[in-house]
Amino acid sequence: MTARLISGNEIAKQIREELSREVAGLKAKHNVTPGLVTILVGQNPASVSYVTAKQKTSKELGFYSIQDNQPETITEEELLRKIDQYNKDSRIHGILVQLPLPKQINETKILYAIDPKKDVDGFHPVNVGKLMIGEADYLPCTPAGIQQLLIRSGVRTDGAEVVVVGRSNIVGKPIANILLQKQKGANATVTICHTGTKDMAFHTRRADILVVAAGKPKAVTADMVKEGVVVIDVGVNRIGMTPEGKAKLCGDVDFDGVKEKASLITPVPGGVGPMTITMLMSNTVKAAKLAAGLLS
Ligand SMILES: NC(=O)c1ccc[n+]([C@@H]2O[C@H](COP(=O)([O-])OP(=O)(O)OC[C@H]3O[C@@H](n4cnc5c(N)ncnc54)[C@H](OP(=O)(O)O)[C@@H]3O)[C@@H](O)[C@H]2O)c1
Repeated sequence: MTARLISGNEIAKQIREELSREVAGLKAKHNVTPGLVTILVGQNPASVSYVTAKQKTSKELGFYSIQDNQPETITEEELLRKIDQYNKDSRIHGILVQLPLPKQINETKILYAIDPKKDVDGFHPVNVGKLMIGEADYLPCTPAGIQQLLIRSGVRTDGAEVVVVGRSNIVGKPIANILLQKQKGANATVTICHTGTKDMAFHTRRADILVVAAGKPKAVTADMVKEGVVVIDVGVNRIGMTPEGKAKLCGDVDFDGVKEKASLITPVPGGVGPMTITMLMSNTVKAAKLAAGLLS
């Protein structure tokens, strides 16, 4: 069997078109414009490129958007004051603080200061807790994107054996939590593997759906999966440069080997990656609707 590709590029485009129509409707019918602020501290090149991409997408969708650039030397107190200002600003529905932050700033303190109603990254403990009890307003963006890839590719999660490799707070734990909820696009039996797992292949070979977020190239090889598995490869690993001077990327799955056994597989790049920013936009539209009382 050679797997069919799940194209994150195509699914993200589809969702952005839906969001664009929704934003136009919100403006025309309710005079509501979703507002997003992205706060960038310092000029870390990776952070600059992530924030630029988020700003570009939010503008394309017709958001009210602010990019707030702060110097590397900003104090924790000053940054907390900024967040307080945006918490109170009714034009802003989503606040995103780009991580990592410089050493003088406690990241946890900053993330906890964001009003949970404006926490479109879904990292505030209130939103983490709501996800856990199946009452999420905002799903964290990468796991939300993974769920959309599965739903929109027609993958049945109900009753499926899902194995997640990785237990980070931004990918592994939330995607496991999302897929185990007694809800549509979920209701799976979920196992989480990590570096303490005794025999990882024993678990991965049982998987109907395998989500790999280990941050290790080729952590999953063909001998570790069963025929027909659906594979979502979250990993982004830099493995050199292309002749054009661009970073050469690979996932956490040995794509060439595993694609011969899988029924569906995400490529890297072009799989999970494009979904993350799209789901941030989706959360911001939801935040605007919640703030306007358009959702219960
Ligand atoms: N496309 C996107 O939008 C996107 C978004 C986020 C992350 N990513 C990528 O996804 C990958 C994971 O990110 P993350 O933030 O979740 O990483 P992370 O915080 O480093 O967590 C990695 C997890 O994988 C586990 N792990 C590592 N090696 C393993 C192995 N050989 N066997 C079993 N478990 C193993 C670790 O176990 P322990 O807990 O025991 O250490 C940990 O729980 C990275 O490549 C990252 O760049 C992509």
